[in-house]
Amino acid sequence: MPFIIAVDGPAASGKGTISRALAQHFGFYHLDTGLLYRATGAKGGDPIASAQGLCADDLTRPDLRSAEAGQAASRVAAIPEVRAALVDFQHRFARQDPGAILDGRDIGTVICPDAAVKLYVIASDQVRAERRAAELNADPGEMLEQLRERDRRDSERATAPLRPADDAAVLDTSDMSIDQAVARAIAIVEAARR
Ligand code: DC
Repeated sequence: MPFIIAVDGPAASGKGTISRALAQHFGFYHLDTGLLYRATGAKGGDPIASAQGLCADDLTRPDLRSAEAGQAASRVAAIPEVRAALVDFQHRFARQDPGAILDGRDIGTVICPDAAVKLYVIASDQVRAERRAAELNADPGEMLEQLRERDRRDSERATAPLRPADDAAVLDTSDMSIDQAVARAIAIVEAARR
């Protein structure tokens, strides 16, 4: 049985960094599921057809990390048929030996409800805005507005909204360095593997 780790949380909470570090540490595969929605939004046209026709090249477009791509992703992610079109790929990815880490918004609740470990990564709005502003070389105030808008849309949608699974371990990274957050996440996974 492959070992599945589900990592969810709002934008810029640190879940991507933690997931990459976990993948490195345990030698597991890692999928940033936000990229699927970003690529779908970036393709333009009918979002359902875009999600259904998504291919590997779409995931390597250079503009997927921008704030605009994040907003477009959040909008297409509210469409149930878009989400449905992306489920099989995520399930197949999750079944790889020796294990897989998927990060997103609905991994622990919808995509991999039987994951061996579920982390829900959070950080204060201020900290998240500052991190994202530094990453994108943008204004923290503007980032704060955008993150809040995106979180609101992601949390309030009817299908697979952003929320912690009942059995998720909540990791608040507001006052943690990257090393501290990663060490904590590794300790949680190791406890579950025993
Ligand atoms: O993780 P991210 O910021 O790259 O995600 C971009 C958007 O994609 C996010 O605002 C909501 C959507 N998303 C989702 O609905 N479900 C996921 N599992 C991952 C991302």
